[in-house]
Amino acid sequence: MAIRTGISLAESVRVPLKQMHEGYLILVNRDYPVRTEEMKLAPLPSGMIQAFNVEEPTRSLESECGRQLAALLAACRGLDSIAVVSGYRSKQAQQNLYDNSIRENGIAFTESYVARPGASEHQTGLAVDVGLASDGMDYIRPSFPTDGACGRFKRLAADYGFIERYKESKSSLTGIAGEPWHYRYVGFPHAAIMERENMCLEEYAGFIRQFAGGDNHLAVGNRFEIYYAAAAGELTSVPIPAAHQGSWRISGDNCSGFVVTVTYPGGKRHGG
Ligand code: DAL
Ligand code: ZN
Repeated sequence: MAIRTGISLAESVRVPLKQMHEGYLILVNRDYPVRTEEMKLAPLPSGMIQAFNVEEPTRSLESECGRQLAALLAACRGLDSIAVVSGYRSKQAQQNLYDNSIRENGIAFTESYVARPGASEHQTGLAVDVGLASDGMDYIRPSFPTDGACGRFKRLAADYGFIERYKESKSSLTGIAGEPWHYRYVGFPHAAIMERENMCLEEYAGFIRQFAGGDNHLAVGNRFEIYYAAAAGELTSVPIPAAHQGSWRISGDNCSGFVVTVTYPGGKRHGG
């Protein structure tokens, strides 16, 4: 991947340590549990099918994630056939799900398909389970085939900032079995890079860390530039470009630092 030195990081912002646990790129798994309650949750945009679910009578997602999901469902012509099975879940809801699953399905199944309370991406509002709409959908493992609208959803997801988070081939890294129904919003272009390079979020978090400091940035076409800043105490000085060079946003990685995504003038996130 090309390294670009076209922008100069003329300014900096001071980022509080707690923001390391917030943003679209936070890694959440057994080793890195959720450490924020700052997400902006919103009810699902109208027009989506919501599978019946006693645990989540009012379903919600982080607001940008919800908007992008609506755009993705429209783009894949899935609004009539793909149901939203689960969105945001509180830590307590995850605990209930985990405990019930242990009782009903046993420990091996539960550890494969239900994250431990505190370690579920659903607690961030950035994860959504989707399934082919039908009567009596399975809440833990909804059907998500590779053809029809679900297949189109899978192929278009990265353009809208979503990754298929738990691929069977990555289960030794994620600690979770293959879950073709579980999508995680990370934003564009990160989702597209992960898809192209076949990296799961655990791998991507490590990959991005090498683009730290100076001119060592990850260029994505001529629209985006990405780099990393390690957290340094309670306030980290994170370099940013001058306003005329592009817009930027910062996400924590929930591990050790911050990822800056610069969008050049004229560059747009898909569907956004
Ligand atoms: N099913 C996923 C792993 C969760 O419970 O968050
Ligand atoms: Zn899920």
